[in-house]
Amino acid sequence: MTDRKLIELANDVMANSYSPYSRFKVGAAVECADGSIYVGCNIENAAFGVTVCAETVAIASAVAAGQRGFKRIAIISEGGAYSFPCGTCRQFLNEFSPELEVLCARSDGRYVSYPLSSLLPMAYGRD
Ligand code: THU
Repeated sequence: MTDRKLIELANDVMANSYSPYSRFKVGAAVECADGSIYVGCNIENAAFGVTVCAETVAIASAVAAGQRGFKRIAIISEGGAYSFPCGTCRQFLNEFSPELEVLCARSDGRYVSYPLSSLLPMAYGRD
């Protein structure tokens, strides 16, 4: 699976985003240790704090299917900026894969890549 293909899958699931409040669609696709792929989109709620991010939905879907280790995650959203994960998602990702590679894409498909450890230094984790 190429970086570009993973970003394409994140872009595809973005169409399912339920974001009537922010009107900001986000999509994510995570590649698991065994090569399988799970996707997620942001899901908002009238009680704003209940909203869940696309990255968290993708990881939760994978964990529910029995996955525990992840190699790469691609994140994309509408607009011109690179899609970096929020702080809560960084912590959520770190729980399973501190070595994760994070691909942060723009809507035009350009992307930057960072190790999760650089986005969440001195992380609080299982170890
Ligand atoms: N959002 C994500 O899906 N991922 C992030 O890492 C940051 C924020 C969503 C949550 C909300 O639905 C919308 O973007 C605006 O904050």
